[in-house]
Amino acid sequence: MSRLANLQQEVQQTEAEMVRFVCEYTDEEQLQKSMLYSIQAGGKRIRPLLLLATVASFSKEHTRGCYQTAAALEMIHTYSLIHDDLPAMDDDDLRRGKPTNHKVYGEALAILAGDGLLTAAFELLSISEIEPTKKILLIQLLAKAAGTHGMVAGQVADMQSEHQQVPLDELMAIHKRKTGALIRFAIVAGGILANQSEGTIAYLDQFAQHLGLAFQIRDDLLDVVGTTEELGKTANRDEQLEKSTYPGLLGLEDAKLALTNEIKAAETVLEQLAAVPTFDATLLKDVCTLFQL
Ligand code: IPE
Ligand code: IPE
Ligand code: MG
Ligand code: MG
Ligand code: MG
Repeated sequence: MSRLANLQQEVQQTEAEMVRFVCEYTDEEQLQKSMLYSIQAGGKRIRPLLLLATVASFSKEHTRGCYQTAAALEMIHTYSLIHDDLPAMDDDDLRRGKPTNHKVYGEALAILAGDGLLTAAFELLSISEIEPTKKILLIQLLAKAAGTHGMVAGQVADMQSEHQQVPLDELMAIHKRKTGALIRFAIVAGGILANQSEGTIAYLDQFAQHLGLAFQIRDDLLDVVGTTEELGKTANRDEQLEKSTYPGLLGLEDAKLALTNEIKAAETVLEQLAAVPTFDATLLKDVCTLFQL
């Protein structure tokens, strides 16, 4: 089995951590069902894959703590999608090829399922099998990435930029926060869990920032060129909502160029990381290729 296929199988352990935690630590049956519905709806799991791939790039074994960190991250990502789809936000009916959480469980429970997943992520991380100093650092970084100077702030800026054309640097800042921050956490957390030096983690961080931006540019492009069936979410939604996006601002061709440039910048940092003797970029490159990044 290829290393990538192996890694994809290992992501199941992350899923198992999420399901186990939600089943063991949720009191209300409907709340539990609603949380499990979104967790088990699939999703590409790029964030857990990147985290686990980063750890493996330094020839380190995946400990239970790695799966628990990846699970916490994916729970936060899943909550962000539940809330992103709410009528008050992007008002979407389809997610991961299924009706959105609020379409099945109603708005109130969808909001609370999101709240539950967000809170559970930190509870899970706090009881994870990770050495205490490292664990506190990871909790702090995840809070930063998910919260008011990360994803949540990005989502606010995203909403505020509807029905207008924001300048490119502002759009970049939105994308870096609403999507980039969690992807950045995936890769930086991988470096921390693999016991890497601050210098190496700074390189990983640079790589992740380019990759995170690239991922959202690609998401913007797919909204235009992809079909609802392929995406598992309603295509052309950004245009309907008059969102600020790369193709909306730059046109399709220049948005593709911006994506290519961001991917190239990520690759350049990865080449610089090759100077770290224990680092092998192959697996991270394979994950990027899998997602056409
Ligand atoms: C969708 O994320 C929202 C963005 C941040 C672009 P993903 O494309 O990773 O969604 P899933 O997890 O595969 O459903
Ligand atoms: C969402 O961005 C980013 C999140 C924090 C969830 P989008 O609104 O573009 O994500 P999709 O296209 O609905 O998946
Ligand atoms: Mg949105
Ligand atoms: Mg959306
Ligand atoms: Mg989108």
